[in-house]
Amino acid sequence: MDKIVIKGNKPLHGEIEVSGMKNSAVAIIFGTILTEGKCVLHNIPMISDVTASFDILRSMGASVNRIDKTTFEIDTVNIVPGSAPFELVRKMRASYYILGAELGRFGHAKAAYPGGCEIGARPIDQHIKAFEALGANVVCDDDTKSVVISSGKDGLRGDSVFMDIVSVGATINAILAAVRVPGTTIIDNAAREPHVVDLANFLNAAGADVSGAGTDTVKVRGVSELHGVTYEIVPDMIEAGTFMIAAAATKGELKVTNVIPKHLESITAKLQDMGVEVEEYDDAVRVKYIGEISGINVKTLPYPGFPTDMNPQMGVLMCIANGKSTMREGVWDNRFKYCDELYKMGAAIKVSDGKMAEFLGGASLKGAQITACDLRAGAAFIIAGLAAEGVTEIDNIRHIQRGYEDICGKLRRVGAEIELVSE
Ligand code: EPZ
Repeated sequence: MDKIVIKGNKPLHGEIEVSGMKNSAVAIIFGTILTEGKCVLHNIPMISDVTASFDILRSMGASVNRIDKTTFEIDTVNIVPGSAPFELVRKMRASYYILGAELGRFGHAKAAYPGGCEIGARPIDQHIKAFEALGANVVCDDDTKSVVISSGKDGLRGDSVFMDIVSVGATINAILAAVRVPGTTIIDNAAREPHVVDLANFLNAAGADVSGAGTDTVKVRGVSELHGVTYEIVPDMIEAGTFMIAAAATKGELKVTNVIPKHLESITAKLQDMGVEVEEYDDAVRVKYIGEISGINVKTLPYPGFPTDMNPQMGVLMCIANGKSTMREGVWDNRFKYCDELYKMGAAIKVSDGKMAEFLGGASLKGAQITACDLRAGAAFIIAGLAAEGVTEIDNIRHIQRGYEDICGKLRRVGAEIELVSE
């Protein structure tokens, strides 16, 4: 089993480049199912969730070819609906986009229930609500753990969908399903995340008519077909935020490049509140430790709030900050499992329940043997290992590899002693 070994307590210095956004890339890769032409996608992150998405598309009959390091050409013209292998679909969460995309192109869809990180209950009721609003019949089979969707007797038509909860996945799936359906679909209480906007921009470039993405009302006017397109994925705001916190936690200074600073505003604001210097450029941010880091209070929220996917990384900084901090989780109901591993490194945290934790601060973290319990927890443990005295060994790193491209190589180039060790 592979593990990451870190010799910590060394400040990071230099420039570190961010890859394309995981959660955009997976939506857009499955979004190519809606197009009948070749799509060339630039700035694709080389992570295992992307390779798993490509494996699923290939096994459904698509061709996926690498053009250069981060560019791929995808042709889904011969794809067979309902053919996504269940065992592959169950490996990742974003595979639920197959349902929206197949429904949008073929008028019917079938896929296994998705997998993904265990960070709380992950229902898909809002996805189903959106499909049903468009006139689909949705059958969830708990025996085979799969979803089968067909068009109702009157076929699919655009309609209004009100999301009871702000959901990234359900908003994206509703857009995917509606794009080629006759009539106009209005999605209210939509998620505003940059990846929703990125998906809409990709679809519009391919001939769709999606407006309002990035606000809480998205309007989709159905078009009869989508053509192939060349498109560049936006940078990953969570990878960027992870490096920003790594700079602060190691008492270093990093210029984090290939970012959209606007996407990072909530993270930048919290780091500044903690006494960390953050300077914004057009497509980069410089983060510098300038003295004692203060404790703060954070609540995670849907975008543009502080991202839930930065909760564990921020939690590590709160452990070493001077004074008490609190973290209230506003999206998932079980996001504090990472604290169990941080205790082994000397952190003082009181977790009240899955929604609230108090970080007592002032910890001198010590290297330990820990296990990555999910993707962002794994990233947080890397930050903890970089800041800690001694050697930290992280196992179960397949979670980290799902969402961070060459994280050891990138961190080594800015001064970290970090190795991926294959056993
Ligand atoms: C996306 O998950 C991201 N994954 C997650 O990224 C991220 O944590 C999450 O959005 C929130 O930002 C991808 O984009 C692939 P949601 P998603 O639907 O779409 C509830 C990472 O580390 N809900 O926005 O699955 C749900 O229980 C990860 O990259 C319903 O109740 O999240 C949660 O409390 C992991 N019914 C809240 O909504 C539904 O039908 C938000 O979930 C759907 C969701």
